[in-house]
Amino acid sequence: MQRTLALVKPDAYAAGHQGAIAAKIQESGLRIVAIKSLHLTRAQVEGFYHVHAARPFFGDLCTFMSEGKILAMVLEGDDAISRWRALMGPTDATKAPKDTMRGMFGTNVERNATHGSDAPDTAAFEVGFFFAGNELV
Ligand code: CMP
Repeated sequence: MQRTLALVKPDAYAAGHQGAIAAKIQESGLRIVAIKSLHLTRAQVEGFYHVHAARPFFGDLCTFMSEGKILAMVLEGDDAISRWRALMGPTDATKAPKDTMRGMFGTNVERNATHGSDAPDTAAFEVGFFFAGNELV
């Protein structure tokens, strides 16, 4: 049993795809054990994506992720991290298969509709970034 963080990013949220994405997650057999919508400040986005701070796209990424509301979810299931990443498709939405979240709802390598943790240690940090322990019981 594993937990991972899933985000519906501002592009997909503004387009009204958050319900469809949550439904796809549930159809896949993953359980949504916590869920909230919120609008991150730029400083909060910089903290969430701190591992990318030196990357050339960091500034644009922070502008994008703070432009509107997002949906944050904690997903639970066997191999939840890799199962959600498979459901999302590759980072670059232009290369994502059309039956994946990014292929269906993303636009390009930045505006790619969804986020998922990439490993158990990042999942622990990212789940804790959005949810307190008493929201995960
Ligand atoms: P995500 O999986 O949330 O992880 C980091 C994000 O940075 C990524 O999705 C994209 O939104 C963005 N990103 C990654 N690579 C690039 C890139 N080459 N150019 C612009 N944005 C990128």
